[in-house]
This record gives sequence, structure tokens and C-alpha cells, in this order.
Amino acid sequence: MHTDVLPTTSTELHAHAIETAVTLLRNGEVVALPTETVYGLAADALKSEAVLKIFEAKGRPRFDPLIVHLPNLQWLERVAKVDRDAQQLVEKLSTQFWPGPLTMILPRQEIIPEIVTAGLNTVAVRISAHPTFSEVARQFDSPLAAPSANRFGRISPTAAQHVLDELDGRIPLIVDSGPTVHGIESTIVAIRNGRIELLRRGPITVDQLAPFCQVVVPQPTQHPEAPGQLPSHYAPSTRLVVAEAISAFSPSPNQRCGALVWSTDIDPVKFAMIKQLSSRQDLREAAANLFRCLRELDQSNLDLIVAEKLPDEGLGAAINDRLERAST
Ligand code: TXA
Ligand code: MG
Repeated sequence: MHTDVLPTTSTELHAHAIETAVTLLRNGEVVALPTETVYGLAADALKSEAVLKIFEAKGRPRFDPLIVHLPNLQWLERVAKVDRDAQQLVEKLSTQFWPGPLTMILPRQEIIPEIVTAGLNTVAVRISAHPTFSEVARQFDSPLAAPSANRFGRISPTAAQHVLDELDGRIPLIVDSGPTVHGIESTIVAIRNGRIELLRRGPITVDQLAPFCQVVVPQPTQHPEAPGQLPSHYAPSTRLVVAEAISAFSPSPNQRCGALVWSTDIDPVKFAMIKQLSSRQDLREAAANLFRCLRELDQSNLDLIVAEKLPDEGLGAAINDRLERAST
């Protein structure tokens, strides 16, 4: 299969890319699209055969459920059951954070095929704020299932080239709208027993959620509901270790070691390659650069990558979570 890459750099190109994507989706094909977090691999969420193609292209095990992206809020109650005690909270969260990088896990409606939820009785839903994704969803006018557009277990793509590197020849189309804004995957919360359970840290931080409701962070476990919550996930091929402070770390002699760093006072002679996440010490910039830097280090024939822990608060905690998973 040939993989087309269509840019959206002018009004005409944008319109053409969207039309091509919508036509393919209507024909039951998969399409890689930018979202505000990472690139996603989308298919018609209500068509099992189309969703199956996502699992095939990614090499994703069938027991790992997908996020359903809605064209608008009217779709929420068609795909998910919002019972009375959850209703107020769901309304507040959707008003505050949608469209945007928050995914809510809710009891599912029958309309969602089993393959999407991997047999769970819940469904993950969000509404993307990306102009390309939301326009495709609007024109398609039906929910799109879309996981991150990488091979299973690998780092999520934050640029069209990353998708091409992993899925060239396996999907018909990648819509290229440049690098993504947030750079890490959406925050995932389950609304259960009147509380917010934080299942995956992301661009919407605990501090942003706390005013709405008590937020609980379940302990990491080897037996989560969904494999995306496994401690080891999102890994580069090169071995990666996390260091509390890069200044205290010394690679062994003859070891080609790369460094992914937050601090600015780093000894350049120790490392074969250094990637600085944010020279301005800005966590948002660090998140946006994270996966690209990890990919570049991973492609540089290193024996080891050492990643420095970030301040463990807000977005820093979400980035540290990705580093921990990349290190196992
Ligand atoms: O930012 C994002 O969320 C991106 C963009 C494309 O929207 N998508 C994304 O999807 O990261 P994915 O499939 O790579 O990660 C979704 C995670 C997986 O770990 C999956 O196991 C979990 O969500 N998940 C999906 N449905 C679930 C459910 N019903 N219960 C618990 N976890 C669920
Ligand atoms: Mg993923």
C-alpha cells in the first residue's frame, strides 16, 4: 500500500486533505490525523471492520481499548451513559476542557462495537481541539476511534514524519499539519463513585482538575484495566535510565551515552549527544519537545540514554510518568 502525505499549509491544501481523509474514512479506511496532543490513527468508530484495521496497522493487541473522538457534545450521550450522580461533574469537565486534551472513561452505550472497548463495559471519549482533526470529525459527522499513530508500545508521534517512519506502507494517508502543540497524550480520567480517578497524566494537570472534584491517583499495577496503564509502555529501542540529577550521573568509559535534560548546567564532555527539553525552563515547551528528542536520541546509535527527572509537579509529573515508562 502506498502512504500519501498531504500537507495543510494553505486553505486549498487544507480543504483537499480533509476531503481526502473523510472519503477514506467513509470507505472504512484508516487515516493518520494530527490532534493537539499527538498524531492519531483514526477510523469509523461504529464500524468494526474499519476499527480492526487500526489494530492491524499498529500491531496493537486486541485487548487494548481505543479512545473515541466525538464530532461534538451532542454525541456524548449516544456513545456513553452519563448517570445522574455523574452528570453534573461530566458537564462541568466537558464545559471546561472540551474541545481539548482530556479523555473521560464512562459506561458505554451499545452503539460502540466491542472491538473499540476491548470488551470493557466502559468507553474512553474526548473531543479534539485540533483544527484539522475537528474539521474531519465535523464533516464525517460520526465518532472516530483513534489511538496514537505509532506501532504498539512505542513512543507516540508528534510530527507526520514520525508516523511515516512507523506506518509507511501500512496506511493510505497521513495528514500533515506540522508538530503537535502539547506533545504528550491526553489526560485520562475515569468518573467513578463521584470521584475523578486519574488513569494517565497529561496536559490537563491535577491542579486543573482538583477544583471540580476529589482526584485520586490509583497506584501503578501490573494488572491494570487497560494495557496503556502498564508500567512499561511507550519505549524507545535504546536502553533508557532516569536520573534524579544529571550532574550526579557519569556514564561508564567507552559507553556512547546520550542525555535528555531539563537542567542547563550540564557537562558536555560526558555525553555523545545532549537534548535540552527547554532552554527557557518552560514545562509546556519541554512536553512539546519530549517525544521528538527521544526519537532523535533513539536514532543516534547510543548505548544508553539517561533522562533527567523534571520537577515533579503539574506537567512535569506527566513528563516524568512518560520517562518512567520509557525506562522499564
Ligand atoms: O492524546 C491522546 O489521547 C491520543 C490522541 C490520538 O487522541 N490518543 C491516545 O490513544 O493516546 P492511545 O490508544 O494511544 O491511548 C489510550 C489509552 C490506552 O492506554 C488505553 O488502554 C486506554 O487509553 N483506554 C482506552 N479505553 C479505555 C477504557 N475503557 N478503560 C480504561 N482505559 C482505556
Ligand atoms: Mg498510544
